[in-house]
Amino acid sequence: MMVKRINRSVTYHLWSLINRIRSRLGVKIFKFSQQAMKAENYEMIQKAWNEKERQVHGDISSVAIEGYVKIIADLIELEEQDVFLDIGAGEGSVDTGLLKFCRGGYGFDFAESKIEIAKQKNKKVQYWQQSFLEPYKNMQPDITKMFSFGVVQYCKPKDIELFLKNSLLAAKENGSLYIGHLDIPDIANAYRFYHNFYGISEVDYMQNLNTDRLIFSDGSYWHDLISMKNITQDLAKEMQMRVKVRIESSYCDYRSHLHIYINERALNVSNN
Ligand SMILES: C[S@@+](CC[C@H](N)C(=O)[O-])C[C@H]1O[C@@H](n2cnc3c(N)ncnc32)[C@H](O)[C@@H]1O
Repeated sequence: MMVKRINRSVTYHLWSLINRIRSRLGVKIFKFSQQAMKAENYEMIQKAWNEKERQVHGDISSVAIEGYVKIIADLIELEEQDVFLDIGAGEGSVDTGLLKFCRGGYGFDFAESKIEIAKQKNKKVQYWQQSFLEPYKNMQPDITKMFSFGVVQYCKPKDIELFLKNSLLAAKENGSLYIGHLDIPDIANAYRFYHNFYGISEVDYMQNLNTDRLIFSDGSYWHDLISMKNITQDLAKEMQMRVKVRIESSYCDYRSHLHIYINERALNVSNN
């Protein structure tokens, strides 16, 4: 396990070094321009995720998935009495491991083929199909914690308020005390991504970062975590919910987490 971890880190640094050398030599490996960044609409994104061969993570080895499970369980402080809701569950890969820490789980995703695989994998988890832009369809009273992992990037920035509102409404409906929107590509750290992976210079980055905030043309976006925090606080006020919102750096240097602590859970947490 240790060897695999080291291998992954070596691969990351090697890849980043090769790309910097390529970039110095003027070999363009990434067209950093608006023309290369055409946004797909949600139907196209859904169609793409429905394709069976589309993997939910770059590394789907059992070691990598085990690592994600550990990270999520720690971040959401998953305990024996908890029941989770996995927002954008994909194939339910992390849910199998999370079940070992808690009482049960639910999950949804808008890609039907992924949900079918999740149902086969985790007979104890109830899954359904829907988009995160619709009100949550199957909120059960036993859900205690909700999370999304590597999902928010597929929400267009213009829809982020609706995305957050749906998760808050669901929490209000069933009394959940915590929502974690985890592993979000953070616009504040976007330069690190383009520099480390593609050797993009700061000047090139500043001149070309597209105003739509698209990462690639697959419908994934950079998000402004500070604005997400402010929107969450405003929504909570309107909805008469007490919240504390914290932004935390992720294990990945260009991503961040948004933790939303609700009502009693909010009392002992400070804002940052
Ligand atoms: C990178 S995968 C992560 C899957 C899962 N959270 C995991 O960690 O294994 C992103 C998931 O978000 C789902 N997704 C994207 N847009 C969505 C939307 N509008 N509503 C619900 N799910 C969506 C995709 O179908 C895909 O399964």
